[in-house]
Amino acid sequence: MRIDIVSIFPEYFSPLDVSLIGKARARGILDIRLHQLRDWTHDVHRTVDDTPYGGGPGMVMKPEPWGEALDAIAGDVRRLDAEPGEVPGPGAETVPTLIVPTPSGRPFTQADAVRLAREPWLVFACGRYEGIDGRVVEHARTRMPVEELSIGDYVLAGGEAAVLVMIEAIGRLLPGVLGNAVSAVDDSFAPGAMESLLEGPVYTKPPEWRGLRVPDVLLSGNHGVIARWRRDQALRRTAANRPELVAGMGALDERDRRVLD
Ligand code: ADE
Repeated sequence: MRIDIVSIFPEYFSPLDVSLIGKARARGILDIRLHQLRDWTHDVHRTVDDTPYGGGPGMVMKPEPWGEALDAIAGDVRRLDAEPGEVPGPGAETVPTLIVPTPSGRPFTQADAVRLAREPWLVFACGRYEGIDGRVVEHARTRMPVEELSIGDYVLAGGEAAVLVMIEAIGRLLPGVLGNAVSAVDDSFAPGAMESLLEGPVYTKPPEWRGLRVPDVLLSGNHGVIARWRRDQALRRTAANRPELVAGMGALDERDRRVLD
């Protein structure tokens, strides 16, 4: 997968050199390219922001550097006869999906991570200040699919930290990135039997530590009983920490109701 990141703080992304994502890059599974937005400015101050039309606090990112950056990265050879909002159809040459992190976006979920992990090419546009001039996304939508995504209901100082979060969530799902591919199967929010359940507690050796024993069932070797116990734990934890997820599961069967009593 190729990932381009445009930011006024490319150095923010040094964590992408380490751990799982760093190894995936070293092994050629991930091709991550960092770009300094200011490289597409033309004034001595390398200005990327200006005051907002209509008044209000803060500054807005100017459209021109963003337009040039996206032209240079995604290629501006193909001008779609697209209406704003229309995405390229089959037969179009390869275009990336543009992801714009913003607290005003749709919530980024595990399902988005799974879907985006199947894309060959993602471009992340990191806004700062009060955001990017609205015409940038409007124009980009005529050329490529664009997703405005939020990582949570809080406001960060810029999109950079959100991009790190999304790349880690997406990157660990790429084939060959996780040491043990099955470990993504039981993730909280992973599609399957544990869908919409939070993962329960996990244990390793020693069997007793500071007077606390690992639950006997996990030492039993009975995989059917262990799987059921884990699901019960997941259900209890979800009811405690995210009751709205349990409410969204619909009517619980008799067994699940007893687990939560
Ligand atoms: N930029 C600022 N806050 C953000 C958020 N919560 N999610 C994504 N991008 C952001």
